[in-house]
Amino acid sequence: MTAERTKTMKGLSARVGRVLPSETVRISGLVAEKRRQGIDVVSFAAGEPDFPTPEHVREAAKKALDEGKTRYVPAPGVPELREAVAKKHVEENGMAETRPEHVLVTPSKQAIAYAILATVDHGDEVLLPDPCWVSYDPLVRLAGGTPVYVPLDAEDGFRMRPEPVAEHITGKTKLVVMNSPSNPTGGMDLPADVRGVAELVQDHGLYLLSDEIYEHVRYGGAEHLSPASLPGMTDHTVTVNGLSKSFSMTGWRIGWAIASGELMKAMGKLQSHTITHPTSFAQYGALAALTGPKDFIAEMMVAFERRRRLVLDLLAEIPGVTCAEPRGAFYVFPDISGTGMDAMTFAERLLEEGDVGVTPGPAFGPGGEGHVRISYATSDERIREGLARMKRFVSQAG
Ligand SMILES: Cc1ncc(COP(=O)(O)O)c(C=O)c1O
Repeated sequence: MTAERTKTMKGLSARVGRVLPSETVRISGLVAEKRRQGIDVVSFAAGEPDFPTPEHVREAAKKALDEGKTRYVPAPGVPELREAVAKKHVEENGMAETRPEHVLVTPSKQAIAYAILATVDHGDEVLLPDPCWVSYDPLVRLAGGTPVYVPLDAEDGFRMRPEPVAEHITGKTKLVVMNSPSNPTGGMDLPADVRGVAELVQDHGLYLLSDEIYEHVRYGGAEHLSPASLPGMTDHTVTVNGLSKSFSMTGWRIGWAIASGELMKAMGKLQSHTITHPTSFAQYGALAALTGPKDFIAEMMVAFERRRRLVLDLLAEIPGVTCAEPRGAFYVFPDISGTGMDAMTFAERLLEEGDVGVTPGPAFGPGGEGHVRISYATSDERIREGLARMKRFVSQAG
């Protein structure tokens, strides 16, 4: 009887069938499995800073809880936080037209999903940097769109230059995604790149999604330019930012989207019919992060600078491995093709035989072949241990 009932069950939506499970989640699962067996695995797979959230931020959230700020708040976010976010973008990013009503408080990933759902229809094409963060492609597919990869060059430091963007624009292009500093490469677009892509976006009447979540994680004075600060770009751009990476607040799920006019209204509708708003008391912690002392960022950057140098120096000692110097974020994206292995084989064998977890490059798009992503959001000691193991693995495998 039960079996017969199951037989008549209808299938899941075609939409979810268009999306593959995340490769980063799979690798984390394999690492966790080895650890369950008691094996000491060095994981370079984490996409989050390894520092505690600053104390004044935690205290502000606790105070909000104790004061009973545990009920619904306005769907686009608590007014004081929207104000603080708008002020940040006017003062730090030169986005002079940003007002609190242009701010939607939401987890950064959610902001990206809203931007894509609000702009992309069936058959529309979305230009993605290749390689790029793992979730853009599935989100475009969920919206019915087609991801179109714009190849980035390691020799250029994985910048998204306007020329290859222009070559990939067709009559079907609707949205361009930029992510600087970048996950997975650590690359940063130059101001000239941002200006060039912004011109293309305006000339072709497109939308631009600028994912600036790693804005504060930059090295050697690398300059960050928000495209929405450029003349004429306000109506074309959704700027996504948040506190996950800058204040070590990944679990808080607080970020935001900045957009204007109909686009903002559309994203607001999506939020009001899905999550309503992010957790009320977490928003008060976020307010403290934005309005309080910022020394945490500088202290975190001292550690990241040192680790970045350490990783680059240790990678340089491994035969068959070369690495572009990242200018931002906390990842390196070395080319391992000189070892004779493809990226998937390298990552799987390194985990199996060397007890080190890295993410294979193709998880980030076809241009990731021949590379792996290493996150150095872990201690100097673990970096030394992990890269010593990788060196041993490469010499034994070769
Ligand atoms: C490039 C990029 N964008 C967006 C996100 C999502 O950030 P959040 O976890 O704050 O939603 C991440 C997280 O790893 C990321 O690397």
